[in-house]
Amino acid sequence: MPSLKGARERRVPTGGVELCVAELGDPARPTVVLVHGYPDSKEVWSEVAGRLADRFHVVLYDVRGHGGSTAPRPLRGGFTLEKLTDDFLAVIDAVSPGRPVHLVGHDWGSVQAWEFVTVGRTKGRIASFTSMSGPSLDHFGHWIGRRIKRPTPRRVGQLLGQGARSWYVYLLHTPVLPELAWRGPLGRRWPGILRRMEKVPGGDYPTASLPTDAAHGAWLYRDNVRARLRRPRPDAYAHVPVQLVTPEGDAFLSERLYDELERWAPDLVRRTLPAGHWIPRTRPDQVAAWISEFVTATEGGRPVPAATGKYADRFGGQLVLVTGAGSGIGRATALAFAEAGARVVAVDRDAEAAARTAELSRLHGAPAAWAETVDVSDEQAMEKLAAKVADAYGVVDVLVNNAGIGLAGPFLDTTPEDWRKVLDVNLWGVIHGCRLFGRQMAERGQGGHIVNTASAAAYQPSRALPAYSTSKAAVLMLSECLRAELAGRGIGVTAVCPGFVNTAITSTARFAGVGAEEERRRQKRAARLYGLRNYPPEKVADAILRAVARNEAVVPVTPEARVLRAMSRFTPGALRRLARAEPPL
Ligand code: NAI
Repeated sequence: MPSLKGARERRVPTGGVELCVAELGDPARPTVVLVHGYPDSKEVWSEVAGRLADRFHVVLYDVRGHGGSTAPRPLRGGFTLEKLTDDFLAVIDAVSPGRPVHLVGHDWGSVQAWEFVTVGRTKGRIASFTSMSGPSLDHFGHWIGRRIKRPTPRRVGQLLGQGARSWYVYLLHTPVLPELAWRGPLGRRWPGILRRMEKVPGGDYPTASLPTDAAHGAWLYRDNVRARLRRPRPDAYAHVPVQLVTPEGDAFLSERLYDELERWAPDLVRRTLPAGHWIPRTRPDQVAAWISEFVTATEGGRPVPAATGKYADRFGGQLVLVTGAGSGIGRATALAFAEAGARVVAVDRDAEAAARTAELSRLHGAPAAWAETVDVSDEQAMEKLAAKVADAYGVVDVLVNNAGIGLAGPFLDTTPEDWRKVLDVNLWGVIHGCRLFGRQMAERGQGGHIVNTASAAAYQPSRALPAYSTSKAAVLMLSECLRAELAGRGIGVTAVCPGFVNTAITSTARFAGVGAEEERRRQKRAARLYGLRNYPPEKVADAILRAVARNEAVVPVTPEARVLRAMSRFTPGALRRLARAEPPL
């Protein structure tokens, strides 16, 4: 597990205090400075720092009064943003005198860093800024001001929403009480609270200095918040490219706070992820990957992100694996993720088709794409695939179990062999995928998402498709059960249920109980009907990305799938009568 052990430490004197500064990695590489928040010390970054150290010169420091840094005397007035800017300049003078640094801040580290990137005296000293869960107090002040001056019901709602999330800020303004609480019961309970509420794993964090850090850190609020919110600077424009990382489940900050951010930071890249406030602890892989990408691109003078597709803020740089990616819905889904800047693993039993999807993914904007030839029904082959993917590309962030085959024909004509084939691919393929990649996601402990392609046939009984519908109903139920099991680990599960989609499935579907010639005739007929319906697989892909972004449970796609879903819930009798109708094929 990465930690700050082995870091080189030094002490940097500035304005009457001494800062404890730690460095990892080669000083000849670009310097990344990580600034911690409240109530933390630099150790909050240990997981992220360890992941960045082989590529960058990583610098962390304890903010004055925190961790190994000394506190100003008196405390009151010792934590103003002006003084914190002096500290930052002293640190970068010491660690990177000749070259601008890449700044990363979390929580109050980000609040401070906004000050650093919007004041004149740091111009030329900072190359980029990645902000997490900590707005500029000036921008926040203007945000409140606009809502008070021009209140609309929506804006008042936003104000009240953020006001409720800021309950602890009011408490921190009370004298002495916060100090007593932190040095007493709150300090003792805090690690447990973080674990339960924020799912922050234990380990080397929080450190033993927590009660003092939290008591001193209260002055960050008292020295700055009221003053800045009342009189925000009118010219707080960022003079560097900014990457804003917003956790959607942040209990302390509303996403709406950043609605107008382009005004203050014209060179802005947005990233979102489904997580709580402490992402440096709960999502270190994703956080480190985004910092790396942003720093590398800024150093190379390239725009970030390269991908501009829908949901690029959500999936950029993520690892997405799609089965059955050689055709139809699978290929369209791989390409939609590619457009959003994800790295794609295209899996299909058809090697050429998988390779083509990987190639197209790169053309559509995937920073990397690979093809893997695997039959999803083959347990051992799937085990090998899972091991290889983890080893070569990493833990999958989004898994799409999409490979599937069609089988039509009456139950009494369906042979055990027919059953085995369809269940092996449609159900066992999904089970293998969920089992192997789901376990990797769960063990990594940093969230993820699994999408299983079921079908409207999962909830629409029919005499025409007994085996296929059964396989898809099983996929739907498996998805629901797994969703319940993995929810506590931050892993979402979605069942996608399309209606008729114009893909190659009709021309490969098997028809039980008829000869080869009749089967070909029915395949052609089905292909013609699906062609007339002409619902494109790209729309299903779009629904899949949206479902992952919103963590939806069951997603009927196409109008007929939605109608059938409603009928299955409200008029099941009518649906049963429909099931008896002679199939059109
Ligand atoms: P498709 O036939 O165009 O694509 C399926 C892909 O899966 C092909 O590239 C095929 O080589 C691959 N594949 C099949 N068996 C495999 C196996 N054992 N291992 C690895 N790859 C395998 O079909 P389509 O329509 O794109 O189907 C994708 C999924 O969507 C399937 O699960 C299907 O049941 C489901 N679906 C399709 C609907 C439609 O109307 N097309 C409607 C509802 C669900």
